[in-house]
Amino acid sequence: MSTVTEVTHPIKLTERINRIEPSATMAVVAEADKLRSQGIDVVDFGAGEPHFSTPQHVKDAAIGAIHANFSKYTAVAGTAELRDAIVHRHNVDFDSDYRREECIASVGGKHALFNAISVLIDHGDEVILPVPYWVSFKDMVRYAGGKCVLLESDESQGFRVTAEMVARLVTDRTKLIILNSPSNPSGAVMSSDDMTEVVRLANQRGIWVISDECYVYLNYSGRRFSVGALREYKDRMLVVGSLSKTYAMTGWRLGYTLAPALIVSAMAKLQSQSTSNPTSIVQKAAVAALKGPQECVEQMRQEYIRLRDHVVGGLRAIPGVQCTLPEGAFYAYPNVSAFFGRGGIRSASDVAGKLLREAHVATVPGEGFGTKEHIRISYATTTAELDRGLERMRKFFAAL
Ligand SMILES: Cc1ncc(COP(=O)(O)O)c(C=O)c1O
Repeated sequence: MSTVTEVTHPIKLTERINRIEPSATMAVVAEADKLRSQGIDVVDFGAGEPHFSTPQHVKDAAIGAIHANFSKYTAVAGTAELRDAIVHRHNVDFDSDYRREECIASVGGKHALFNAISVLIDHGDEVILPVPYWVSFKDMVRYAGGKCVLLESDESQGFRVTAEMVARLVTDRTKLIILNSPSNPSGAVMSSDDMTEVVRLANQRGIWVISDECYVYLNYSGRRFSVGALREYKDRMLVVGSLSKTYAMTGWRLGYTLAPALIVSAMAKLQSQSTSNPTSIVQKAAVAALKGPQECVEQMRQEYIRLRDHVVGGLRAIPGVQCTLPEGAFYAYPNVSAFFGRGGIRSASDVAGKLLREAHVATVPGEGFGTKEHIRISYATTTAELDRGLERMRKFFAAL
């Protein structure tokens, strides 16, 4: 009888994968799901996605595409029909001027941003990133080998980022400035003057700007603005958009980038060696979303405004909680530092952890977004669900 000798080979992952962390929002979703699977009724303010269903005409287009056997590979950057629909929609809504060659469709805005950052950032490059930032920016930059230069914003000013604040951080090593207005997680909106000034300055200094405009249609001021309108500065900027929030299509995975043709071809090259085209059927659905009736977008925006007012009012009524007024997206970002030192709580992560485990309300701790005193609440849900969660939070904080 032979004995089997076990040889253990230590698993060594790459230095590059060890530079990044799992998405904080995904971690909350997983923990809330675990509680739910144990039969616990969790109020979910964690997930950053619309509670609306995808509009019927979009669903019908996808079903039609399946029946029509539109199921083969398409061009890597998306069909000509889709790219034309994206640039046309953007031109109508924002007065931009892009050609098909300056547009690439990707598997969600996240994929578009990952490809864009991979194409632009090399080891040691500096990237200016306003805080609080959407979780993935930091990790995408790190994965590419870049270094984030964090731009601290002022909570008393609603976390608003100005061109002057950006200009102060520009150095000879600055390769890229990332803007995200309306912002996830703060809901802050940059003024069009400030965005214009950042793009102008970047252009002058040979710095790239990525404007993540995934929430551009959810601007509550009614004065939505895309840097795509700044035609004269086109050669140094990338506009990233997504159908996820605009048309309640998070699971479909369709995002896009509008950028100089050279950047678009580099992104397509990367895409050709990784995902290839976004799902063919989804591309047909996306064309229907972009070319079809747009009333659904405005209806959802109006509903988010109502929900924003409801949740911010409810949060501000909880003694100890402070909350700025978000001007877009669908997140509230209350400051919960008044509770640090109570009930064993020392951080925002402790607040979110206890809220989930003890009050069964899922939120995302601010640490993942670069601030230590906040939790993020997604209010893309019904008023009844907001009330249930707010009541649980009120009781939880009162008992601390
Ligand atoms: C600021 C921001 N950018 C990009 C994305 C990516 O969205 P998607 O990949 O669903 O298009 C999100 C999603 O939450 C986001 O909040």
